[in-house]
Amino acid sequence: MGLKQINQLSSIANKPSRIILGLMSGTSLDGLDLALCKVSGSGTKTRCKLLKFTTAPYDNEFKEKVRKVFAQDNVDFEYLTLLNPWSGLYHAKIINQTLTHWQLKPQDIDLIASHGQTVYHCPQHQHSHTGFGNGTLQLGDGDHVAVRTQIITISDFRQKHIAKGGEGAPLAQYGDYLLYQKSNLHRILLNLGGIANFTVLPAGGKVDDVQCTDIGPGNTLMDAYCQRYFNVPYDEAGTLAARGKVSNDLLDSLKSVPFFHYATPKTTGPEVFSLAMLEDKLMCLGSVLSHYDVLATLNELTAWCVLEQINRLGLSGPTELLLSGGGAHNTLLITKLKSRLSEEFDISKLSCDGVGVDSKEAALFAVLANECVAGDGLFSFGKISLPG
Ligand SMILES: Nc1ncnc2c1ncn2[C@@H]1O[C@H](COP(=O)(O)OP(=O)(O)O)[C@@H](O)[C@H]1O
Ligand SMILES: [Mg+2]
Repeated sequence: MGLKQINQLSSIANKPSRIILGLMSGTSLDGLDLALCKVSGSGTKTRCKLLKFTTAPYDNEFKEKVRKVFAQDNVDFEYLTLLNPWSGLYHAKIINQTLTHWQLKPQDIDLIASHGQTVYHCPQHQHSHTGFGNGTLQLGDGDHVAVRTQIITISDFRQKHIAKGGEGAPLAQYGDYLLYQKSNLHRILLNLGGIANFTVLPAGGKVDDVQCTDIGPGNTLMDAYCQRYFNVPYDEAGTLAARGKVSNDLLDSLKSVPFFHYATPKTTGPEVFSLAMLEDKLMCLGSVLSHYDVLATLNELTAWCVLEQINRLGLSGPTELLLSGGGAHNTLLITKLKSRLSEEFDISKLSCDGVGVDSKEAALFAVLANECVAGDGLFSFGKISLPG
């Protein structure tokens, strides 16, 4: 980085507020979330206002290309190497089209926060390679995004987390703490993406009091099953699951997955919660279940892992449970959570400064990019790519 660019970054860092385009694409592989945010201040003084939001659905070509390596044990290394810059260019194309649609120019945007497409997540407890620690891999090279969009791009957020001893996920805790901490009540931010995770913000807690962990499958098993047996991308509002009956045998068998028995914080992915794992369990049980019954059981599994972890927290006093992620649209699942949690829990969909259920994760990466450039270094994640 030359002096000119350092000065440019410094002037962005010194602005009272920055326009940051946060990008997120999780393990659901449904699309690229684009959250245009006005982020002011930094650290606990951060404010993040959502200006515009869209999800650009991934086309079949992208999904097919990514699925060849996504959570796969064996991949063509040349192909993987090529997919990284290609994904960066693909994301850049979506960004450019979206900005044109919003009638914005690259100069209107201070920073892009690009999460990249996760293709493999392997914390130490999940892999069997002796002598290796935690690892996670996101594709969509930041330099390609920066050069193609002509906007400074922060990417590769998860590596610093691993370098500092974490599992690379969930990163939501930092943005959640900066934006949503309350002095007078507990808050749990539950994100139901492909994998479900939550951040617990005890009333008046400091950063060291924050707990954040993956808790198990959000939608990933339900999605995989719907795609295979119902030919739909997901179970809209949980209506297919609602037609089935929960199988306690299958549920018990799924609850025996080792991940559920590890201590928190912990992370996981579709590498563990896969259709292959589910089909193994079904075969071992030998009983014949209808596809609706299987889906009903998978929906129940997600409800169970959320309730199990929340009850283990032992929080007392008023607690807000703020929902986000696509699973927040699964009416059957949310109805179960509402009916089974005690009255101390006030459950609602997240809605704050324009940031809502679908935009939250992308907005949180905008906040992390803000910290990377304008923060005091405490939450400094991400690598900086310049357009020039
Ligand atoms: N209307 C809906 N009803 C039920 N589930 C939904 C609905 N809309 C989205 N979802 C679920 O949310 C998923 C996408 O959630 P998202 O938060 O984008 O996850 P990720 O971060 O893994 O991409 C979809 O794959 C689907 O399972
Ligand atoms: Mg998504």
